[in-house]
Amino acid sequence: MSGKRASWSGSLAFVLAAAASAIGLGNLWRFPYLAAQYGGGMFIAIYLALVVTLGFTLMVTEIAVGRKTQQSPLTAYALIQRRWGFVGLLGTLIPLFITPYYCVIGGWVLYYLKAYACMAFTGVNIMGEAAANSGEVFGALISAPFAPFGYGMLFILACAAVIVLGVKNGIEKSNLVMMPILFLMALGLAVYVVTIPGTFDGIKYYLIPNLDCVSTPDGRFSLALLAKTVLGATGQMFYSLSLAMGIMITYGSYMKKTDSIERCVRRIEVFDTLIAFIAGLMIIPVVYLFAVKTGTPVKEAMNAGPGLMFVTLPKVFAMFGAAGAWIGLAFFLLVLFAAATSAISLYEACVSSLCDFLKLERKTATTFMATLIMFLSSFSALGYGAWGHIKLFGMQFLDFFDFFTNSVMMPIVAIATCVFIGWFTGPRLVIEECEAEGAKFRVKRFYSFMVKYLAPLLLTALLVSEVCRALGIKGWSI
Ligand code: PFF
Repeated sequence: MSGKRASWSGSLAFVLAAAASAIGLGNLWRFPYLAAQYGGGMFIAIYLALVVTLGFTLMVTEIAVGRKTQQSPLTAYALIQRRWGFVGLLGTLIPLFITPYYCVIGGWVLYYLKAYACMAFTGVNIMGEAAANSGEVFGALISAPFAPFGYGMLFILACAAVIVLGVKNGIEKSNLVMMPILFLMALGLAVYVVTIPGTFDGIKYYLIPNLDCVSTPDGRFSLALLAKTVLGATGQMFYSLSLAMGIMITYGSYMKKTDSIERCVRRIEVFDTLIAFIAGLMIIPVVYLFAVKTGTPVKEAMNAGPGLMFVTLPKVFAMFGAAGAWIGLAFFLLVLFAAATSAISLYEACVSSLCDFLKLERKTATTFMATLIMFLSSFSALGYGAWGHIKLFGMQFLDFFDFFTNSVMMPIVAIATCVFIGWFTGPRLVIEECEAEGAKFRVKRFYSFMVKYLAPLLLTALLVSEVCRALGIKGWSI
């Protein structure tokens, strides 16, 4: 890469970009489900406590490492201490594994957006009037021989078009369009939902702290169940804040020295948590109402992941008659923007690493990465259909990539980062970066304690619990 390193135009642009990365499918389909199933307000309180402690520590660390070294993850760690370069390599492989499958899901969203646009403008409903066939439509889409691949490619190309334009002209400008629309639509849908008669019980279900998640069936408090809830919230926080994926290092490397890292991180956390909270208000009360109306057990209706978004919600939208098509259209546009801004950040982490390592031009690196991502995404795109018979450790490709990155690699990279900063370079490295150009870092002692002790401990517990869950060992997994 030639010349000076690119930079954001200001701290607001940086906050918006990092928040755009953080706000993604994790906020829309994971947070509401977890909050609903694990104690409502209780889960939200634990989650908030983790965001301002552990999340804060990890995000400050990554941004400071990026800004100090002016490098993306592949080369940043090695620049500080050669021996620790392997963490950078692992941290670069994570977005490289995630981007392909995230783009396949982005492709599914594109398909649903098209279906709802068609429904809204022409009245043709591919799922039937009551969305009775939503399960079959989704099943047919993901197992089709070409469609998941084709829509995934479109999504990848759209992201590539933004990346190739660069930090200021591509990422920053696209965020300026997508993020306000996303925020307004989420707010509008949530307000609409809470004013629908009959959704009050669902709102209570979501917000009122429920001690069931920390009590045994006979009503006694259980420490093991509390630990399980805390670990579940830790995993979600990790996922939602885009930590340990190389993204915050990359975005931090474009940050100006005059901007306060502490202040920016607080703002990113507020944005991300606010959207997750609003997503819950937008989704849980209507799914609850739907469950009551159709006699479906509430916990079953609130199932996680693709099932909630692509099968249950279309049924919920159909409850609203003709207006349902427009609600669906608004909802999937919102999901598309959330997924696209996150995918762009994942893609940028890969492109930037390539530029820094091989000194390539952005255009060349973007083209090379697009080709590689397309190739890798074909496994996830076809893994439910043509290649459905191939399993990795009993999992479909997409599920395997998701598990391996989120549950294994990300905790390992985060633990290694904490040990590196906490015990080898010393927290001073990050603290000094946070205080560059006279900026204030008010929580130095707290930060040092977190990065040295509490963060590695919690992250190790998370890693053990996730691996136990995958191996079917009855453990502390949520
Ligand atoms: N933080 C984003 C989200 O919540 O969706 C981005 C992201 C998280 C992408 C985790 C991929 C991933 F595995």
